[in-house]
Amino acid sequence: MDRQTVFSGLQPTGNVHLGNYLGALRNWVKLQDSYDCVYCVVDLHAITVDYDPKQFEQDRIEAAKVLLAAGIDPDRSLFYFQSQVPQHSELSWILGTMTPTGVLNRMTQYKDKVAKGEAANLGLYSYPVLMAADILLYHASLVPIGDDQRQHLEMTRDLAERFNNRFGNVFPVPEALIPETTARVMSLADPTAKMSKSDPNEKSRVLILDSPDVVRKKIRSAVTDSDPDVRFDTEEKPGVSNLLEIMSTCTGRSIDSLVDEYGSAGYGKFKDAVADAVIAELAPIRSAYQNLDDDEVARIMRRGALDARTKAEGFQQIAREATGLAAI
Ligand code: TYM
Repeated sequence: MDRQTVFSGLQPTGNVHLGNYLGALRNWVKLQDSYDCVYCVVDLHAITVDYDPKQFEQDRIEAAKVLLAAGIDPDRSLFYFQSQVPQHSELSWILGTMTPTGVLNRMTQYKDKVAKGEAANLGLYSYPVLMAADILLYHASLVPIGDDQRQHLEMTRDLAERFNNRFGNVFPVPEALIPETTARVMSLADPTAKMSKSDPNEKSRVLILDSPDVVRKKIRSAVTDSDPDVRFDTEEKPGVSNLLEIMSTCTGRSIDSLVDEYGSAGYGKFKDAVADAVIAELAPIRSAYQNLDDDEVARIMRRGALDARTKAEGFQQIAREATGLAAI
């Protein structure tokens, strides 16, 4: 039987942080062992908000380099920049013709970004349609993501069904793969908000390339609460619960066993143990990163784009034929 296809993407805006890694990237890396994986640096998504083109060129390469260092293996997975494969945009247009604007009006990420001051442009509005195109283009059936992408994935499933009902059974209806712990890694500065690239407070997130000293400082300064017990309670103790989840994912230990060990150890000792776990998890990524150079990354991305274009074109023919757009 053919192996199922996995697709996921990451925007090259700002630095990759622990939320991206524990929410999604760790799964990307693991899935390479048992699936055909397609991973994409989604630069077209990133330009839907204000950006500086010179800085962006650098950020794109940087994001690719971090993903390679984290374990994306270009010999086993298709890995490339979204803008280099025009079939994404073509399928997005087709899917856009069957996306009700009422559905887009309900997208919370769009509303949040506009509320925070981003211009309400058409690209930002139709962002989830392009995301659906990314996934459906390769007939992917599994999509490793963090919890914040759940609504977009639901819309993707809905579009696959709409398309199939209208044009015949073309697309698998994809499933989200969302981790049980760390599906939503919270900000270290405000544990009621998710850790995010756009937070102006740098202490709110650990970056994947932060040095051990910086990781320790940030985790030591993580906001907790005044009751000294270490226990899991997302309502009463969101900061401590976030650190427990982070440590659990990094060590592979259950939250219960961590609570048994650190329940009354005090926050100082607990935070140091969390920092140790995060530092150990990130150490191999930092050293792999130091061994990669930008030229090599560019070469990998060029090759990835060539392979992806060939594969995408094969799939896109199917969508064109189904919709009456076949070559004549
Ligand atoms: P992006 O670039 O914001 O984030 C990349 C991945 O990291 C996850 N993530 C988190 N997980 C847990 N806790 C957090 N605090 C946290 N912050 C981010 C995201 O859920 C995501 O999986 N729209 C997507 C990019 C995209 C995509 C796709 C994803 C474009 N096309 C197709 C999957 C399939 C995004 O903005 O991710």
